[in-house]
Amino acid sequence: MIFILTGAGISRESGLATFRDKDGLWNKVRIEDVATPEAFYKNPEKIYEFYNFRRKELIKTVPNPAHLALANLERNYQYGVFLVTQNVDDLHEKAGSKKVLHMHGKLLSALCAKCGDSRDWTTDLSSEDACPNCGRKGTLRPNVVWFGETPYHLDEIDIAIRGCSIFVSIGTSGVVYPAAGLVQIAKSHGAATFELNLEPSANLDYFDQGFYGPASQIVPAWVEKILKNEVF
Ligand code: APR
Repeated sequence: MIFILTGAGISRESGLATFRDKDGLWNKVRIEDVATPEAFYKNPEKIYEFYNFRRKELIKTVPNPAHLALANLERNYQYGVFLVTQNVDDLHEKAGSKKVLHMHGKLLSALCAKCGDSRDWTTDLSSEDACPNCGRKGTLRPNVVWFGETPYHLDEIDIAIRGCSIFVSIGTSGVVYPAAGLVQIAKSHGAATFELNLEPSANLDYFDQGFYGPASQIVPAWVEKILKNEVF
């Protein structure tokens, strides 16, 4: 089985900003203002504004050849793939990937901070919206994992990372844990490890091979080699 971990870099050529590049989101807004639970309680309107803008942008966005190549790999690789993304966009699904674990949540989903109900949500969120489950107002927030919160699907991820024979990291800077620690676990369990990125990430030393360039070029090329069993 191939364990695939993607980050913001795979969606960059679809027009979505990354976080830590020079034109990244964290150079435009402060994490403390839009990506912590405290920020939501302190200034919910800023949170609603930030994520409403990103949600509107995402709805107009289409997958690029890198997303399409991973969907092709899922359909045609005989030993199976396990796709985990740090991204909150739905571009893997739009490209045709059927099983996608969003460990940092989903932009097109809303979570009630009070009753824990979560559901698809494709329109603006505001403090006027009532939770469809408990009826409270002002408790609905974007269903994304903020700093200081626990990522989703960690149990499933922990089982898969110990059993994969190939680990590939695509479009991530490798600085946010626990995602950034997955390559070490895979390697310690004997997996062959690959990095596909614009440039070497912080985890460079844990990868057996690196392929560098725009994801829309290097991911389809890598998938083709894998499907022809030529990558080793
Ligand atoms: N093709 C391939 N890689 C690219 C491209 C591209 N066109 N453009 C940028 N990259 C690479 C950058 O070189 C960088 O290594 O994508 C990576 C993006 O890194 P980050 O901006 O740090 O994004 P990511 O690693 O996904 O961040 C992880 O941090 O803020 C949190 O929750 C947020 O999920 C996010 C997590």
